[in-house]
Amino acid sequence: MLLHTANITRETQPKGESRGLFMLSDVRDALPALIKKYAGSVQCVYIDPPFATGRSFDMRVAVHPEEWKSGTGSLTARAYDDPADIAGLTKLLRETITGARELLRDDGLMFLHVDWRMSGRARMLMDEIFGEDNLLNEIIWAYQTGGRATHYFSRKHDTIFMYRKTKDYYFDAQAVSVPREGVRANHMKRGTDADGRPYSEIRSAGRLYRYYDDEPVLPGDVWTDLNMQQKDPQRTGFETQKPLKLLERIILCSTQPGDIVCDLMSGSGTTADAACANGRQFIAVDMSPMALFSLRRRLPETLFDAVTPVCAAPDIEAHFAQEGLGDLLVTFSGFRGVTEGEEAGTDRLDGWAAGYISNGVFVPAAQSQRSFRSPDISLSLKIPFIDAPVCIRVNDIYGNTAFYSAEGT
Ligand SMILES: C[S@@+](CC[C@H](N)C(=O)[O-])C[C@H]1O[C@@H](n2cnc3c(N)ncnc32)[C@H](O)[C@@H]1O
Repeated sequence: MLLHTANITRETQPKGESRGLFMLSDVRDALPALIKKYAGSVQCVYIDPPFATGRSFDMRVAVHPEEWKSGTGSLTARAYDDPADIAGLTKLLRETITGARELLRDDGLMFLHVDWRMSGRARMLMDEIFGEDNLLNEIIWAYQTGGRATHYFSRKHDTIFMYRKTKDYYFDAQAVSVPREGVRANHMKRGTDADGRPYSEIRSAGRLYRYYDDEPVLPGDVWTDLNMQQKDPQRTGFETQKPLKLLERIILCSTQPGDIVCDLMSGSGTTADAACANGRQFIAVDMSPMALFSLRRRLPETLFDAVTPVCAAPDIEAHFAQEGLGDLLVTFSGFRGVTEGEEAGTDRLDGWAAGYISNGVFVPAAQSQRSFRSPDISLSLKIPFIDAPVCIRVNDIYGNTAFYSAEGT
């Protein structure tokens, strides 16, 4: 059977199976299509843009099973460039925030995550686009990672601006309450009641206030409890990855199960991961192929729709065999025509799917994907015979996605 590259740019899961949508695109190109379909439908938008650091950021990729075991990566791929171009970033943010506001439901919330370089401009942009009365919080996310400065105080926090779209917004502080045990209360008297429950208490203006350790407390706007250590198992190798718990707090306070959460610069896919883990749907956009690579490794079992540009596709080898009466067994055996020095065989394969083309869209029927936890991948996929052209999606360790259609199936 002959395989040739297919000009397919969209993968759609069969009805009801999709948990989200990823678009590999500059956000400015993605927004018109998103607005057309999702205007007024998104409950929460989170954006963690580049910070104008003047640096490039990489992603470490485990390619061989030993690297999975050791937690290191053998390949370093460029994730994205972050030029120190404040004017360019301000323009990009203006367009992105304007589009994000259109996507939001009237009761939705938007979170913009920046650091000291952009926080002033970001606040002004948000005030201009959302209205200054709609600023609800300037959240300080403080962390301990990174070195210590000697010529000024170490910069150990980011700022997350939280804006509502309208006065009728949804916000559930109870959903993100934290155990009181972790909250410091040095100024209070400690005690234990008759039932053995420890508490802290304080007398103020003639009244006694008692707070039990086992009662949850609502977080304030300074978040110091959401760190991610250097060797944290949740690390994907994507340099500017944020902690899952940070996104969970944002998603849980602003959405309910089934709602749509949108991240327009999704990076390693933390927002999508947190959304799926909590029964929300996601829309994720990023222009870096490594963002799609990371999302697929992060959510190997999660079926989502994807929009990807047509890329220069390497030749692949795959075999087809009839299996029983009604199935087709597709076996992937490797890439062909790899450039000198590159891995051949299946090392470059990160995941793949076999399915059909329906109205110019790829609909997978079976898929296999390596994950951050495991290098395992199945090289044979069984799909049912149906009266439609067979198609294979291949995604490699550089974040490329290519589609191949099979003639004569
Ligand atoms: C700071 S990272 C996001 C990290 C993410 N929050 C995480 O937890 O992994 C910023 C992301 O913005 C993306 N980006 C920058 N400019 C973009 C643009 N114009 N359109 C889409 N994505 C863009 C970069 O590729 C990068 O992945």
